[in-house]
Amino acid sequence: MNQVAEIKLEGRVYTFPVVVGTEQEKAIDIRELRNQTGYITLDDGYANTGSCRSAITFIDGEKGILRYRGIPIEELAEQSSFIEVSYLLIMGRLPTRAELRRFSDLLTQNQMLHEDMKFHFEGFPPNAHPMAILSAMINAAGCYYPELLRRDISDHFETLAARLLSQVRTIAAFAYRKSRGLPFIYPKTQYKYAANFLHMMFSHPSEDCELKPEAVRALDLLFLLHADHEQNCSTSTVRMVASSGANLFACAAAGVCALWGPLHGGANQAVIEMLEEIHRSGDDGRKFLEQVKNKSSGRRLMGFGHRVYKNYDPRARIIKRQCDELLAKLGRTDPLLDIAKRLEEAALQDEYFIERKLYPNVDFYSGIIMRALGIPVNMFPVIFAIGRMPGWIAHYREVAEDPQGRIYRPRQVYVGPTLQHYVPIDQRT
Ligand code: ACO
Repeated sequence: MNQVAEIKLEGRVYTFPVVVGTEQEKAIDIRELRNQTGYITLDDGYANTGSCRSAITFIDGEKGILRYRGIPIEELAEQSSFIEVSYLLIMGRLPTRAELRRFSDLLTQNQMLHEDMKFHFEGFPPNAHPMAILSAMINAAGCYYPELLRRDISDHFETLAARLLSQVRTIAAFAYRKSRGLPFIYPKTQYKYAANFLHMMFSHPSEDCELKPEAVRALDLLFLLHADHEQNCSTSTVRMVASSGANLFACAAAGVCALWGPLHGGANQAVIEMLEEIHRSGDDGRKFLEQVKNKSSGRRLMGFGHRVYKNYDPRARIIKRQCDELLAKLGRTDPLLDIAKRLEEAALQDEYFIERKLYPNVDFYSGIIMRALGIPVNMFPVIFAIGRMPGWIAHYREVAEDPQGRIYRPRQVYVGPTLQHYVPIDQRT
């Protein structure tokens, strides 16, 4: 028998269907709640609200599980690549060899920006944050392909997806070059996705940079681990904007803005700044943790805590291991990695963090890898945005192709003044 939920309001009992997902997650379908009862639900921060049904990513935050289209993140990190995972997320299944080749070729064919785009970069001040440039330039790039921005995406979706995925990397590298006053470096056909990004970031017109395989692999892994994370703040933003019928470039630009904040994708930058501050002060991390626990300091242990994970974030575990491997292969040490490890160890034994189930999240160690690759701190959220692009594209597609899709439009409980009357300006006290 189908399960139902009963809600008793003002002496009357109402029943609502229970929806069960493929992983046995249960939800009460309250779509008829207001119609039937006149009530709405209030869920500040949406922690108990399912905004959609989605078949892209599964997370079990209690058990520390993350799967893309059913495949555990650990298997993908070990055996796959960012582009194969992008295909998996966007198209819904792993590609055959021929499909992967075709998708890679499509990315290569679409990697160049329209030459006029170079002039848009000139409009930004030298110290503009690259996330501002990225968001603006993604929207600008969309203007060059009006034929791809139609609401019905069925006949050109692959080209649309490949163009955005490929060009976001070129835009990101150009944003960095612009901020350093360096000439733009064009992508090369023979390089794969992550290698091409490092080439556009660090080569010179007269000399190509050395692309170390371990550096390329580490960056590819970072992109892969960021590729999707179900209904987080930026992805929900993308879905919200998509629900109004806006085009993919506009949705992705909005996603970048949502991701920029320090509580979301900006946390990787905030973690490194925190570790640098601790390092400069000579603290071994203990004083800092005391400040965090003393709420009046207003400080948080950045890179710790997660709305969904109440157990170790599986991405953080993979990235931590990758930090050790990469630094060893590059023959480097980083004092910030030692501080991060000490902070983690102390926090995981501390009642404050245990009680609140606060563990390292994806951002706690990712910055150490990016530093080792020579990527400047203000580009960290940009790396996150490039990685998250296939997830946003997959979610955009889910919204755009949903035949029952409706515009996202939450309600509110109004707590402002009740009826007031306009007072002419000369009668106001
Ligand atoms: N350091 C110290 N205390 C924390 C931290 C932290 N990093 N995170 C949460 N807490 C505390 C809160 O103060 C609160 O304590 P209280 O119950 O005594 O009031 C409790 O833990 C619950 O925290 P909330 O803010 O209610 O948790 P929420 O789910 O709303 O926030 C978030 C999750 C934003 C990730 C939060 O843990 C945080 O600010 N972390 C630091 C920033 C960060 O690393 N963001 C990246 C997230 S992952 C991502 O976007 C890729």
